[in-house]
Amino acid sequence: MPKLWGGRFTKSMSKLMSEFNDSLPFDKRLWKEEIEASTAYSAALANAGTFTKSQQTKVARSLREIGKEFAEGKFRFKPEDEDIHTAIERRLVEKIGDTGKKIHTGRSRNEQVATDERIFLKSAMAEAGVLLRALQSAVRDLAADSADDILPSYTHLQQAQLVRLGHYFMALFFMLEDDYRRLKDLKVRMDVLPLGSGAVTGSTAKIDRNLLKRELGFSELSPNSIAAVSDRGFIADFLFVAAQTMIHLGRFAEDLIMWSSTEFAFVELDDAYSTGSSMMPQKKNPDSLELIRGKTARSISDLNSLLMLQKGLPLTYSKDLQEDKEPMFDSVDTLLASLKVFTGVISTLKVKRASLMRNTDDSIYATDIADYLVEKGMPFREAHKVVGRLVLTGAQTGRKLRQFSPEELKPISNLFDGSYYKIFDPNKSVEGRDVYGGTSSKRLKEQLALANRILSGRKSDRR
Ligand code: ARG
Repeated sequence: MPKLWGGRFTKSMSKLMSEFNDSLPFDKRLWKEEIEASTAYSAALANAGTFTKSQQTKVARSLREIGKEFAEGKFRFKPEDEDIHTAIERRLVEKIGDTGKKIHTGRSRNEQVATDERIFLKSAMAEAGVLLRALQSAVRDLAADSADDILPSYTHLQQAQLVRLGHYFMALFFMLEDDYRRLKDLKVRMDVLPLGSGAVTGSTAKIDRNLLKRELGFSELSPNSIAAVSDRGFIADFLFVAAQTMIHLGRFAEDLIMWSSTEFAFVELDDAYSTGSSMMPQKKNPDSLELIRGKTARSISDLNSLLMLQKGLPLTYSKDLQEDKEPMFDSVDTLLASLKVFTGVISTLKVKRASLMRNTDDSIYATDIADYLVEKGMPFREAHKVVGRLVLTGAQTGRKLRQFSPEELKPISNLFDGSYYKIFDPNKSVEGRDVYGGTSSKRLKEQLALANRILSGRKSDRR
């Protein structure tokens, strides 16, 4: 089968090479972007005099019809179609003959692919933004519902200090807010149109690139043709944002997986997001979250693939770059699906309020005891040591910290008095953390109010 570029060849490509070379099996997904870009390009060519007005109308109509064939699953691929760019051009020529053959005037697939990818990522990012907001809103609701619940926080997976559950969930909200901001920042770099760059050095057609920019809704033109066809930093940029978002989801997934175990029993996943065991009838497994945690690996690998692909690659375009699409698609699919599922998990999550404090040891008040001594005038480092001894004695004698008698406490420090026993109050403990960003109810309310402003699109007055 003749290739679009077959002129200087005397033999045809081996079947083996052809299969190896074709990107159509995966880049056919870019049909919509390719048609959009080609239609805009035909308008620029008409403006440059390559097409007459009526020829361009015909080209645009045919491209629309080709789009319809794709949308309805009726587009017939031919063995000579290497990729989505050649397939659509081939079909255009098939439909309108010689006029169609002019569409590639001054144009190269090197710029087409970079253009299609940017159009694709712009819309994927918009979708990711909407899904992120939906997840943030579910997280905000859960945080508001659990504002009064108190549970241990962990560092090193050891009980650390008491915290409001709502405060914990707002951590997810604000980590996702960072992801949202990254996406927003990235949009500026993504919104640059390569079309007009030709193969390497710029198009020979007298096209108006500003017209292309307007037609395709970009905010800037690539200022250098070599950078435009060579660089895939914009994809790596997206893959990083996706991987970091997945890492955030994966870490919270891990906590919720642990928390849904019998040992923690802090939460229960809804049946709709759990699976059973084929053998053990009692099992209700948090597979939704395990998959999100697992898929984080793919997402990180996709980013790694894209970085490795570019490493040491000579300028400008080499076929290596064809390998950029699968990690890009995979990462988009993984992110969008994970955001949807995580939102489902969060919006149906049941908090098991009664067991949140079940396994909390008095030693979780150790910092509060040290703070108590500090308030009475002891330097913190000394207080830390005193409470350390108290905790050790408790552990050695198998007693809770609140079980120490005043007679036992006095020799440890004469600053201890009857108010010692008031320390062991969960509410008092969390209310003590009343700094901006802390876990007191006032500070949690501030976070929830800020979240509401962010979600309603109002100016966020973060301090
Ligand atoms: N299928 C190719 C890709 O995905 C399109 C660009 C081909 N360019 C070329 N000079 N052979 O990268």
